[in-house]
Amino acid sequence: VDEQQAMARAAELALLAGRTSPNPRVGCVLLAPDGAVVGEGWHRGAGQPHAEVEALHAAGDRARGATAVVTLEPCSHTGRTGPCTEALLAAGVARVVIGRRDPNPLAAGGAGRLAQAGVEVAELPAPDLNPRWERAVALGRPVVVWKAAATLDGRVAAADGTARWITGPHARREVHRLRAQVDAVLVGTGTVLADDPHLAVRLPEDPAPSQPLRVVVGARPIPPDARILDDAAPTLQIPEHDPATVLARLWDAGVRSVLLEGGPRIAAAFLAADLVDEIVWFAAPALLGAGPGAVAPFGPATIADARRFAVTTAAVVGADVRIDLVRASGGV
Ligand SMILES: NC(=O)c1ccc[n+]([C@@H]2O[C@H](COP(=O)([O-])OP(=O)(O)OC[C@H]3O[C@@H](n4cnc5c(N)ncnc54)[C@H](OP(=O)(O)O)[C@@H]3O)[C@@H](O)[C@H]2O)c1
Repeated sequence: VDEQQAMARAAELALLAGRTSPNPRVGCVLLAPDGAVVGEGWHRGAGQPHAEVEALHAAGDRARGATAVVTLEPCSHTGRTGPCTEALLAAGVARVVIGRRDPNPLAAGGAGRLAQAGVEVAELPAPDLNPRWERAVALGRPVVVWKAAATLDGRVAAADGTARWITGPHARREVHRLRAQVDAVLVGTGTVLADDPHLAVRLPEDPAPSQPLRVVVGARPIPPDARILDDAAPTLQIPEHDPATVLARLWDAGVRSVLLEGGPRIAAAFLAADLVDEIVWFAAPALLGAGPGAVAPFGPATIADARRFAVTTAAVVGADVRIDLVRASGGV
């Protein structure tokens, strides 16, 4: 196995993990000088051994003189587990090949530490296995993905308040997949009181998906029999209105990505604060002519001040259209 193949395998291993936040997904392959794989490992989640430590453990004595191929720069700090740099040095690893530099200033510096201790350090491009995690670490707050399901005239409910269902089953299934990819799902109390949403992940292909934290923002009490309070996933109410404060609270709870699921007032608050990084917009081929819009009024008074996003993909899903967008400027 050459180093390129080992990096591809390490990336494959990293993806075996479910949700690892607040840590990234990382994979590691140890190669003997003759190219034989002597150890493999991946990080399974917070508080669990890092990928390098798992691979070293699998290799035992065969780690001496080996090359460690790892998708992310080994950490040089002591978090819940010891620094990986020291574990690699203690095991006598001769060469370390790094896929991506650690964007976390606390954890970075591993490559320098290894080189200083006489280990050969090289870089080999690896796929971005943790795009939202990398962005969150760079921003110092969770990445916010706003999901909306609206009619062609941008409405998210009818004049009488009914909102089920604007989009069809395909789009709704994709929403469940989106939830499975983030650490938290967030709504305002208004949506809980109007729709009594469940917000947990249900997927036909996965009977036991990893569940996001369900977050309700606002001061009004949630009825004790609300579906969001069942035991399908943990739920947290944050009686705050400032989106930055809410995100700071979630960061402290280990959240690195949030799916903002509405409604119009909470969406407006995040847009006004310029805290929406991505949008997933489901457009239903229907018109209502009345009813609340996807966003309550939030600021731009003239066309030059419109919040602009860039389309990354657009696809037909069942009877609806899904448009994925990222912020056009100001982001990372
Ligand atoms: N189709 C869709 O994609 C979709 C998704 C979600 C909701 N909806 C629809 O949206 C409607 C509910 O609208 P909504 O606007 O009441 O829902 P909302 O935005 O979910 O909730 C509004 C509540 O959020 C709290 N909040 C927290 N921070 C805030 C801030 N900075 N500014 C304003 N409020 C803040 C306030 O709660 P407190 O007053 O308790 O403090 C406020 O009353 C329903 O008809 C629902 O069907 C549609």
